[in-house]
Amino acid sequence: MCGIIGFTGKESAKEKVIDGLYLLEYRGYDSAGITIGNSEVLHTVKCKGRVSMLDEKASAITDNCFFGIGHTRWATHGEPSEKNAHPHSSESVTLVHNGIIENYLELREKLSEEGYLFKSETDTECVVHLIDREYKKCREPWQAINSVIAEIKGSFALAIIFHDRIGEIWAVRRNSPLILSYKDGSAYLASDIPAILKYSKSIMRIADDEIACLKAEKVIYYDRSGTEKSPHFEDVPWDFEMAKKDGYEHFMLKEIHEQPAAVSRAVRPYISQNGLPDLEKIGISKKTLSEFDGISIIACGSAYHAGIVGKHLIEKIAGIPVFVTLASEYRYDPPVVTKNPLIIAVSQSGETADTLAALKLAKETGSPSLGIINAVGSAIARESDYVIYTNAGPEISVATTKGYITQLAIMFLLAAALAHSKGTVSDSYVKSFLANLSNDVPSAISNVISRRSEITVLAKDIVDTSDLYFIGRGCDYAASIEASLKLKEISYVHSEAYAAGELKHGTLSLVTDGVPVIAFACDEKYHDKMIGNIKETKARGAFVILLCKDNMKNPELYSDKVFLIPNLDGIFTPFVSVVFSQILAYETAFLRGFDIDCPRNLAKSVTVE
Ligand code: M6R
Repeated sequence: MCGIIGFTGKESAKEKVIDGLYLLEYRGYDSAGITIGNSEVLHTVKCKGRVSMLDEKASAITDNCFFGIGHTRWATHGEPSEKNAHPHSSESVTLVHNGIIENYLELREKLSEEGYLFKSETDTECVVHLIDREYKKCREPWQAINSVIAEIKGSFALAIIFHDRIGEIWAVRRNSPLILSYKDGSAYLASDIPAILKYSKSIMRIADDEIACLKAEKVIYYDRSGTEKSPHFEDVPWDFEMAKKDGYEHFMLKEIHEQPAAVSRAVRPYISQNGLPDLEKIGISKKTLSEFDGISIIACGSAYHAGIVGKHLIEKIAGIPVFVTLASEYRYDPPVVTKNPLIIAVSQSGETADTLAALKLAKETGSPSLGIINAVGSAIARESDYVIYTNAGPEISVATTKGYITQLAIMFLLAAALAHSKGTVSDSYVKSFLANLSNDVPSAISNVISRRSEITVLAKDIVDTSDLYFIGRGCDYAASIEASLKLKEISYVHSEAYAAGELKHGTLSLVTDGVPVIAFACDEKYHDKMIGNIKETKARGAFVILLCKDNMKNPELYSDKVFLIPNLDGIFTPFVSVVFSQILAYETAFLRGFDIDCPRNLAKSVTVE
């Protein structure tokens, strides 16, 4: 949801700001812009389109500039265009913004009456004029910013340049992420960590409504009352290598390959030497776990899908009810759950606005909350009572892969820990379950990844289709929901996931000659039922791709193509069926020539409602 960057120091601001924008492009990519300057001049360059186009346009700036701000946009107010691209300027101020100003219409009217002329359709332009108005009154940046943030409603992360304060970048945020860093005479500001990892691993997250001033000599940080306090930097456990493509054509492909190691890394810290689960290190004792009588999971998109698989598993082995609710629904319509539930918020970015708002609402009930989060120190992590970090490392591709798979791994770990605490399964069951999860699952995922060429052949079979259906039962159905999203998201092939038994209640009417149906029959428990459902689609002319283990008898009798998955216990097969579908989606999108890491209309880290 828009990426913003700021730099001030002694080196070339153009290079640092544009480099940072390339690394933030996953947050939005419909237009981009920069303002960079020195003691003589401020240059602003903007364009519709990708950062590469901005980069080309900015090559016309030959002055040596040492401070600047930049923005890559995901449009909310106003179409993607040069006019609506950031930075936006008023007489004394230029700024970039990530977020949504909810009362912008009212502010725009007021400012127009005061004589301000609006050049764009954005909500952001109100903010720049408001700061201009306040700054002209007091000539004091902190005061001007502070009075404006009292007037605006909504979410914002702002990087601000006052035209008469050379070399300074001012920053403030509320409900939109913004981090800063300082190293060797250079100060950096960014929406997310990967943008500055190349220069520094030491970061500080700016708190809501607190204000920072970045200079080459130092960073000055003000609390809400305007009192200066020392900025508190923390080292992040990531390095720049992790945020690079490493020779892969796309981040998505690189991230798919990182999944076997990511699953082990996610769960191993919570398996004790005796092979049993241990959540003490995040502050949850076995006794506390045993007392929860239900689980309420809130999440969006793929994180929600990880919750759906989690529900199947937790109910099955721990025997307690699990409610999985889309955060965007929960925040206005929370479900009635049990008396003593554990609230779980799942989020890769830790910044998703709906998940954060739903979590805040859920916490009002007094129930304890657990965040399953990738981004260390993110807003949802800070809001949660307990946090399990998924340890996936930076995920850049908009379509999540290792983010999802590590959430899934933690769901499995949690199911084992809950079941163990409640005594619904034996110690030996839990031990072998966790050994499977940390050893067999990663090698099964590696097996699927190593058979990419087989999946490419299948992608060729579906590349020209307009509609496709995934079917499955139980965990296979839960996994197919994520499989379907992946295909839609990057290859733009319309697809739906159906519980196989539901087809006859409506969807079967859409299955005609040649329509592809991808059947997940990985869990042997459902083989007979799935064969029946597959036959129903074949009888209507479907082109069936079947995923199963080699214990299914004569799968070629029921299907046009078979992909044999590694021999895992049925309960774990979502790990491999989803990885299969990630690669299928990737190859299909590749064959169709789409921009895989940056699918149209989307952005990573959805920080607006
Ligand atoms: O950062 P989060 O896990 O909270 O993000 C949730 C969804 O926006 C995300 O999973 C989205 O559905 C992915 N782009 C799907 O690949």
